[in-house]
Amino acid sequence: MLDSPIDIEKLKKLQFKVMQDVAAAAVVPLMRIGDQLGLFKKLSELGEVSSQKFSEEAEVDERYLREWLHAISAAGFVSYNKEDKTFSLSPEQAAVFAQEEGPANMIGAYDVLTGAVHNEKDVLKAFKTGEGVPYEDACPICFQGTARFFKPSYQANLIKKWLPLIEGFEEKMKSGGSFADIGCGHGLSTLMIADAFPSGKVAGFDIHGPSIDQAKNLAKDANLLDQIEYGVADAKSYEGSYDYIAFFDCLHDMGDPVGAAKYAFDHLNEGGSVILIEPTASDIPEDNFNIFGQMYYSFSTMGCIPTSKSQEVGLSLGAQAGPSRLINVLNEAGFKNCKVVKKNASNMVLEARR
Ligand SMILES: C[S@@+](CC[C@H](N)C(=O)[O-])C[C@H]1O[C@@H](n2cnc3c(N)ncnc32)[C@H](O)[C@@H]1O
Repeated sequence: MLDSPIDIEKLKKLQFKVMQDVAAAAVVPLMRIGDQLGLFKKLSELGEVSSQKFSEEAEVDERYLREWLHAISAAGFVSYNKEDKTFSLSPEQAAVFAQEEGPANMIGAYDVLTGAVHNEKDVLKAFKTGEGVPYEDACPICFQGTARFFKPSYQANLIKKWLPLIEGFEEKMKSGGSFADIGCGHGLSTLMIADAFPSGKVAGFDIHGPSIDQAKNLAKDANLLDQIEYGVADAKSYEGSYDYIAFFDCLHDMGDPVGAAKYAFDHLNEGGSVILIEPTASDIPEDNFNIFGQMYYSFSTMGCIPTSKSQEVGLSLGAQAGPSRLINVLNEAGFKNCKVVKKNASNMVLEARR
């Protein structure tokens, strides 16, 4: 192999891809700094502004800020007016970086990336031992990052586009139906469902106590705490039976997804269904060798596989399990009617009925 001649064009292409990725990774800490100091939000409020004026308004050092602005402008995330040497955010840049509550926001992704770098030491050790790393041992930035990363997609899709595809869902939930959000994390999806279906009975469960504490805080802030039952529980130990049992971006993280789906099978009311949201993937790994696959297999290596391996069974489906593998898991749990009801570039929605 070493003796094979190097194809210069292929080499250059590879090096260019590495440079693109290095440049993308280089802004990660800058994006976190900008987010934590509220620089994107401040810039969207100020409009076109010099670095001097911006630094005064944001109460940060001008020299650091100017370098940050140049880096972020080079990335295309801030706009620069060369005539009067001012910086601003276009409406699109503001939507993606400054509007925390908007459905286009993507800044939370940088929390996930930062968290993954912090997890390197534990995951490196686990490569050697084959053991898992429990979810609670991950860098805490991962927990808020996960919630922020998924939120815009849930905001844009969950209530308006995805859940209406589940037959009978809206009618049932409007007339007092019950819904359990398993592995709910910070419970943003749980909140959206409680808000959309005020007469529904909504519950959120997660194995991670601090995430449930945060879910309760957020529900309190949204005046929805009375409507939601939150509990710290494993996917094989929560109480009650429900019309809908959901696993949103979490079944593949579980050590025993078959056991979790079986438990859901036994805790579904007659006519109910299990709803999965999972990252979009093909069943064939090489079909996932694209930018989504690069991102999800990487997140999976640093978070999903270590979490699953830390639990009983340790099946380690991974974040790119693909629809056939997921449907096999559901079939093994006893579900006979399983289908993908929606697929977009980043998410798949599956429904399983008895
Ligand atoms: C990637 S996060 C997704 C959280 C949330 N559903 C969302 O979409 O933002 C995976 C969640 O699954 C939870 N989890 C992992 N294993 C679990 C298990 N066996 N039982 C219950 N929850 C579990 C984790 O604590 C974590 O909150």
